[in-house]
Amino acid sequence: MESSLALGRLELTPSPAAVGVGLAPRLSGGPPPKDKSGQRPVGPQAPAHLNGCVPLSHQVAGHKYGVDKVGILQHPDGTVLKQLQPPPRGPREMQFYSMVYAENCSDPCLLELQNHLPKYYGTWSSPDSPNDLYLKLEDVTRRFVKPCIMDVKLGQRSYDPFASQEKREQQIRKYPLMEEIGFLVLGMRVYNVCSDSFESYDQHYGRGLVKGTIKDGLSKFFHNGVGLRKDAVSASMQRVQHILRWFESQRQLVFYASSLLFVYEGLPSSSSSSASSSPSSLLREEKGMREGAGQDEQVAEYNNNNIRVAAPWDYSLATMYANHRKGGHHHHCAQEHLHGNDGEEEDGGNREGDGEVEVRMIDFAHVFQSESLDHGYIYGLRHLLTVLEQILHDAS
Ligand SMILES: Nc1ncnc2c1ncn2[C@@H]1O[C@H](COP(=O)(O)OP(=O)(O)O)[C@@H](O)[C@H]1O
Ligand SMILES: [Mg+2]
Repeated sequence: MESSLALGRLELTPSPAAVGVGLAPRLSGGPPPKDKSGQRPVGPQAPAHLNGCVPLSHQVAGHKYGVDKVGILQHPDGTVLKQLQPPPRGPREMQFYSMVYAENCSDPCLLELQNHLPKYYGTWSSPDSPNDLYLKLEDVTRRFVKPCIMDVKLGQRSYDPFASQEKREQQIRKYPLMEEIGFLVLGMRVYNVCSDSFESYDQHYGRGLVKGTIKDGLSKFFHNGVGLRKDAVSASMQRVQHILRWFESQRQLVFYASSLLFVYEGLPSSSSSSASSSPSSLLREEKGMREGAGQDEQVAEYNNNNIRVAAPWDYSLATMYANHRKGGHHHHCAQEHLHGNDGEEEDGGNREGDGEVEVRMIDFAHVFQSESLDHGYIYGLRHLLTVLEQILHDAS
């Protein structure tokens, strides 16, 4: 039987490369989630890398495995492995996670911060290459069936106080509006319910957005091909507000070139249909199967995270979804059955998805100790909230 130990070494203490406090990372929330459905990560066509780990299939931005020198992998147990960048960035990020998740941490500010980060499970390395360290992190998209994902860089400056003149200029050139806008869309992928496929936007999309187009540019993330997912906008705003409150309460850390990762459920839910094949019931059934299915007599299915989902064949998500779309009284992509209508749903079709949103802070290669508020990040969060509010307002 495969185990994470057989597949790679899990180090629970910071490597000597990490400068500073020498805090042992806490396995907050216990070990990585065990998958009851016997899921395996490698899709039928995906090449196996590093003892069963594969490049992260749903990555929307950042350094890519096989393209850049370092990259992000997906472990068979469903966690994300972020390869340490060359010093000082990689060790700095590792030290940050080690500090926030330290077992003996009693700082309320850091304990609160844990809620806004992926869980951290220590470092990992492949037996073939034991010196190549990875941060083992919770995959924050994991509970979603059709995860819509957006990476937004926050702050008024993308370079840290120790950056060379050349690095500063390079970062400013990349997006001269960073100071004024305070955030930058680095990449996203959005589920289109009509075509049953994802649309992807890379870093060039975000860099093309200016003051006059930032609202429409950002709202694309919440469009499902039929209309605006207002439920996802307002749930995202609530999460961002929590993060803003944390920033307004702390004076010990500053973040440069760090991101917020937004995730919402792209699979539509319906308030008006009570038939068992309604999208919302599909979502519930699918989740139930993922959580409760046994290992045998099931046929593997691969979701968009490249995670194998065990499901009895007749009730596979694909089959049910196809049946739903063929169904006589259901309208394929009909506005009244899907989010994105004009708000006429009375029983909260737009509210149903509230729990299906994540906004987490990621990417901590440029985090530093401080003694004052992080004004640049706070500026970005406030502006982001204003723009999200305008998106909602325009839709109402
Ligand atoms: N914990 C995570 N869960 C899910 N996806 C993640 C996670 N961490 C990173 N990613 C994916 O990888 C991308 C790059 O991650 P990031 O930490 O910003 O790396 P980089 O330092 O290369 O920019 C993100 O945009 C996201 O798509
Ligand atoms: Mg990044």
